[in-house]
Amino acid sequence: MYLTLPLQDVFTNTLYLQSCLLLCVLVSALETVTSKYGDTIEIPCNNGRVVEAEVTFVKWKYDKDGNILVKHRDQNATVSNDVNYKNRVSIKDFSLVITQVAMADQRTFTCMVVVEEDILEYPVQLAIYTIKITTNVDVDEETGLSTTTSTLEYTAVKGDIDAKFTCQVQHIKSANMDSSPLVFTVNYPTEKVNLQVVSQGPFKEGDNVTLKCTADGNPPPSSYNFYINGEEKTVDSSTYTLTNVTRENTGEYKCSLVDNEDIVASVPITVEYLDVVLSSTGKIVKKLGESLEMTVDVKASGTPQTSWKKGNAKLNSLPKFDKLTYSDSGVYECIVSMAGLKKTQTFELVVEGSPVIKNLIKERGEGMTKVLKCAAEGFPKPTVQWSVNGSNVESASEHGKVTYSLTIVPNGNLTVSCTVSNVLGSDSKSINVSARNDQTILAVGIVVGLMLAVLAIGLAYWLYMKKFRQGSWKTGEKEDGSAEESKKLEENQSQKADM
Ligand SMILES: *[C@@H]1O[C@H](CO)[C@@H](O)[C@H](O)[C@H]1NC(C)=O
Ligand SMILES: *[C@@H]1O[C@H](CO)[C@@H](O)[C@H](O)[C@H]1NC(C)=O
Ligand SMILES: *[C@@H]1O[C@H](CO)[C@@H](O)[C@H](O)[C@H]1NC(C)=O
Ligand SMILES: *[C@@H]1O[C@H](CO)[C@@H](O)[C@H](O)[C@H]1NC(C)=O
Ligand SMILES: *[C@@H]1O[C@H](CO)[C@@H](O)[C@H](O)[C@H]1NC(C)=O
Ligand SMILES: *[C@@H]1O[C@H](CO)[C@@H](O)[C@H](O)[C@H]1NC(C)=O
Repeated sequence: MYLTLPLQDVFTNTLYLQSCLLLCVLVSALETVTSKYGDTIEIPCNNGRVVEAEVTFVKWKYDKDGNILVKHRDQNATVSNDVNYKNRVSIKDFSLVITQVAMADQRTFTCMVVVEEDILEYPVQLAIYTIKITTNVDVDEETGLSTTTSTLEYTAVKGDIDAKFTCQVQHIKSANMDSSPLVFTVNYPTEKVNLQVVSQGPFKEGDNVTLKCTADGNPPPSSYNFYINGEEKTVDSSTYTLTNVTRENTGEYKCSLVDNEDIVASVPITVEYLDVVLSSTGKIVKKLGESLEMTVDVKASGTPQTSWKKGNAKLNSLPKFDKLTYSDSGVYECIVSMAGLKKTQTFELVVEGSPVIKNLIKERGEGMTKVLKCAAEGFPKPTVQWSVNGSNVESASEHGKVTYSLTIVPNGNLTVSCTVSNVLGSDSKSINVSARNDQTILAVGIVVGLMLAVLAIGLAYWLYMKKFRQGSWKTGEKEDGSAEESKKLEENQSQKADM
């Protein structure tokens, strides 16, 4: 690229360049060849004064011990493995040809020739300019004023992006004058591409994954090649989106320049997956006392964690039942998680059985009523049938247990049966209820109780009176009392006791 900075000024003619690059001026006594940055240069051996017929061997080297190439007479040149030059050099009539010269090539190259018995060395200095400034002064014949034009020829490099170029006018009679800075667009080819996954991972099946390819050239390419599952896709964009990915999309993805597939970058993508299969799901109906074993099959891209819940309660392990009970019924949940993925599988266990009456009892109710309680177990919840009319109440049922209470007013001796049944079967029990019996027992109880009470009072009174009589004897006052008197007293006391 060349850029031209025209400058016109009636007085002065010094151009000054400010740039981020250093201008190197090499002063050397050696033979010097110059080249512009990026050009191909031919460095002659001894200024081209080598007679081919006399030379048996020629070798190009640089600095102290850098070998570039050797050529024997009538043979092709052998390029050494030097990283700086192996891909950029060739020989042409003893001259060393270097392509794409860079600032780093400013060094001494030596041509060593073997002519008959002599070994001769011809060092050559290579100077690289990037910059060329030509100044032109025109003097107007009529006015005598001069117009100075300075042109800067400059080979831009990548490092010059955003560099500001200014020219300055200097004149002995005035202050320095700076032009406003100029920034130039520097175009350069892509040397490297970079492929990134712009979507936020980790990825799971069903996600969309966007890849972005960027190149370091300026301007950047407007289209890229993406290699998706081994297929090359050219897109007029720097991004490519894989929609609804599956585990099959796990792999290495690449992008390259459309016109140079050797400039390529790659990135791996992993699509995480988690498959959970329970040996059975949905509603599982089992008979009371049967066994049940569940298995869970997990296929995952990583190490999953499995936990179980029954309702809201956490279980410590996979549910396993040797003998199912009604309380094993419920909704079981298997939760498997891994790397942001979570799968839940549920099953509902229903333990069913024909109803069985566990207990049939009678209790006294309010007033003359009796309450019969019939406790049954079974699933589906059994219905009840009583052999007599009455008001029936059923308890809340839980784990297959339900209690039915019948309130009746017994009218004579009754045999009451409770029959519970569901689709699987039925059970029946009866109980004798006797209204009168209970009343008789009550009456007998009251009579016996009263008799016992009277007996106790009598006994207490007799003991008291006996003690009182002994006490009067001790005083000796009535020791001489007649037997008649004593007898009368005794009779009086026994009469009192009889009362
Ligand atoms: C030298 O190189 C040319 C082409 O590069 C090839 O045709 C020729 O065979 C080579 N000669 C020798 C001696 O290797
Ligand atoms: C993936 O992209 C499609 C279409 O581009 C869109 O319909 C879908 O909602 C996206 N899915 C997700 C998970 O973002
Ligand atoms: C995503 O892919 C799965 C299986 O590959 C398919 O069943 C599903 O319908 C797809 N979803 C969309 C939104 O394309
Ligand atoms: C129960 O009452 C119904 C009417 O409410 C009656 O038809 C039925 O005979 C009664 N059963 C008994 C055993 O008393
Ligand atoms: C009721 O049963 C009792 C015995 O349990 C018996 O003594 C009584 O006579 C019976 N009453 C009726 C009305 O059957
Ligand atoms: C109920 O009374 C009858 C006689 O009335 C008797 O045969 C039966 O064994 C009694 N049942 C119970 C459970 O006491």
